[in-house]
Amino acid sequence: MTRKQIPSTGLLRDYASRNPGTLLIGKSVFHYEEVASTQDIARKLARQGAEEGTVVIAEKQTGGRGRRGRHWASPDGGLYLSIILRPNLEPARALRLPLVAGVAVAGAIKKVTTLQPRLKWPNDIFIAGKKVGGILTETSTKKGKIDHTVLGIGLNVNTARSLFPPAIRETATSLAEESGRNIAPLELLQCLFDEFEALYVEFLASGFDKIREQWKAMSNTIGSRVKIDSGGAEIEGEALDIDGEGFLLLRRRDGNVERVISGDVSPPTTRL
Ligand code: BTN
Repeated sequence: MTRKQIPSTGLLRDYASRNPGTLLIGKSVFHYEEVASTQDIARKLARQGAEEGTVVIAEKQTGGRGRRGRHWASPDGGLYLSIILRPNLEPARALRLPLVAGVAVAGAIKKVTTLQPRLKWPNDIFIAGKKVGGILTETSTKKGKIDHTVLGIGLNVNTARSLFPPAIRETATSLAEESGRNIAPLELLQCLFDEFEALYVEFLASGFDKIREQWKAMSNTIGSRVKIDSGGAEIEGEALDIDGEGFLLLRRRDGNVERVISGDVSPPTTRL
């Protein structure tokens, strides 16, 4: 398959020449109208030594990737970006990065719209019970240390419902569909960079505690009875909390509390 990488001529074209105002995230921005996957481009750049904070953005992806090998539908109107991070962390600690990013994405949505995003563990962004965004992290290690993490964020911003594949049309939504107006993508992007940079710096300097509280305050998972598919095995219980490592604490029917590292929380999460 040939990869189509079309340099952007659209809305994001001038982004790199502006001063984005962040010190780290978005210092270098590679923007494309259409690519297979921004993750692939960012991973290649990272392997070639691109600096931390480098961002790859596309207005459309033909081979967008989601968690657990799924396809990520990436039609016109969405924001699809991958951020190269080089955190000085033990690889296990990087498991919290998608949760940090979730808080940043939700924070940016709140600032730029009047919508109330909710976070579904581990890293989905929901509005009014429908998925509006997702986060994918891919980490590469060298000698037991993180060399780089590529943080991918897909957000349905001005996506028309008709552009979603039929299979997700009832379960996905966009910010424009929910707010009834078009959202300025550059404003949202800048806000996302600001929010993520502040939280990332805090996470590296002071740990996960405060961010964990913010995540919980926006969660639609905690306090709900959920079913989790963690790759074959399905477990059910009450989602009690996330711990300091970002694991979900699930109380099973027999009263035992299990720590779940990842999985798909299925639907819909009902408040107890
Ligand atoms: C999920 O499964 O919910 C995560 C979706 C992540 C999609 C984003 S879009 C930008 C980046 N490029 C990709 O191919 N995937 C991520």
